[in-house]
Amino acid sequence: MDINIKIGTVEKEPAEVVVFYLYEDVKTLSESLGRCNKVLDNIVSEIIKEKGFVAKLNKTIILPTYGKIPARRIMLVGLGKKKDATLDKIRQAAGTAACTIRDMGISEGASVMDPIDIPFPISEWYQAYSEGALLALYRYQKYKTIPPEERQELRALTLLLSGKEDLRPVQEAVKHGQIIADAVCFTRDLINTPSQDKAPGVLADTAKKLGGEAGIQCKILSLPELKKLGMGGVLGVAQGSAQPPKFIILEYNAHAKNQDTVVFVGKGITFDSGGICLKQAKDMDIMKSDMAGGAAVMGAMKAISGMKFPQHVVGLIPCAENMPSGSAIKPGDIIRFYSGKTAEVANTDAEGRLILADALAYAEKYKPSAVIDLATLTGSCVVALGTVVTGMLGNNEELKKRVKIAGEKSWERVWELPLWEEYQEQIKSDIADIKNVGGPYAGAITAACFLSKFTEKYPWVHLDIAGTSWCEKNSAYTQKGASGIGVRLLVELIRNWNRFS
Ligand code: BES
Ligand code: ZN
Ligand code: ZN
Repeated sequence: MDINIKIGTVEKEPAEVVVFYLYEDVKTLSESLGRCNKVLDNIVSEIIKEKGFVAKLNKTIILPTYGKIPARRIMLVGLGKKKDATLDKIRQAAGTAACTIRDMGISEGASVMDPIDIPFPISEWYQAYSEGALLALYRYQKYKTIPPEERQELRALTLLLSGKEDLRPVQEAVKHGQIIADAVCFTRDLINTPSQDKAPGVLADTAKKLGGEAGIQCKILSLPELKKLGMGGVLGVAQGSAQPPKFIILEYNAHAKNQDTVVFVGKGITFDSGGICLKQAKDMDIMKSDMAGGAAVMGAMKAISGMKFPQHVVGLIPCAENMPSGSAIKPGDIIRFYSGKTAEVANTDAEGRLILADALAYAEKYKPSAVIDLATLTGSCVVALGTVVTGMLGNNEELKKRVKIAGEKSWERVWELPLWEEYQEQIKSDIADIKNVGGPYAGAITAACFLSKFTEKYPWVHLDIAGTSWCEKNSAYTQKGASGIGVRLLVELIRNWNRFS
């Protein structure tokens, strides 16, 4: 969908529908809605007065205009109370409006937001607005046979601005929103793709294509190199599958001077059957999303290149399929990682940490100022925090703070779990340096303890997105399926990187 920006007034805008956003606790109508109301014989003020419409978040009402203005209808969309305003609420309301317009069978709509109503910097507001509209319209329909004439698509939204002083900042904000939403949808597509069509080799090809984007280089490590480097974690997990593993390396701004290097690491398990410790059948299909961390890293790199940030950013994505077979890794087997450390594989379903261990140790070679890993790592994190917030653990207070702030701003919020010394006890092994499970309690923490053995040389944050990467139901701007979590947070983190350093 295109978002066009135009200077104009509602009274002169011919459209199928014009959208107005309202606060529940602001009784006076905005300037443009007030003017419209007059022309429409006070229909808006009456309906609000009679409580026919209360502007609660995501509530909508559509009113006909009977030819009194060129637009055929107006739609009122609630933002909730102004005193409780957040940027995410505009994201939601814009998403609700866009889907409502589309579902009415309309292919183009106009939208009005008077600057007077905006309790945030307009750049942030319009970015959130365009993110919300674009993300809400996302659907994964690649495998559906829908005749083109039955595909309802909203092709364009026009934003009407009253004066030209805001034109530039709004254009810029909308462009940022579009770049970010594009990247999130790219990530969602990868995650929603069935495993049969995204084996590690296919993900590597997708990454190579990303390598064509501005400033991004891509390198793939395949079986021979992985063996040479001694990446026993990636090799061990992949050995039961017919699909060979790949290790994706994306590098943005490789030659940046005097800039920090930030490394993103993403778990890229293209299907997690559990391996020999096979998972139960119920919901096993969702394990196609076990590469959501890797997909988020790819999406973030795409957006970061689109926004031309100055930092040096590296993305590492170890990719493998976790399958049971005669050649699969077995409980009790010992792995030797790239770092030289060894681990006893007590449970083959705790495979994510095995591939991440190699990637985290490999990250050292970039002498990074920060490493952030994203992984659908533990069911335990879902038990602890549910699907609302991502679990965060790490070894550096300043980096954790940066990630927390980026999470609040992008509304991909994180909540810290403790990574205290006492928990390390649980992953001690009798026969290797460590073992890959820590018992029935605090599973999200002991998983992070395992990772921490490979991140001692740099500031590091681990984000467990097991609960936040997949949606069980539709909401204002996410649909059932992949959420694309992580992209917005990582982009926000890099965007503000130099502001805090
Ligand atoms: N990919 C799973 C974690 C997961 C669970 C992601 C639910 C998304 C939703 C991971 O590889 C796994 O199986 N973890 C095990 C670890 C256990 C065996 C120590 C878990 O959490 O049950
Ligand atoms: Zn697993
Ligand atoms: Zn997994």
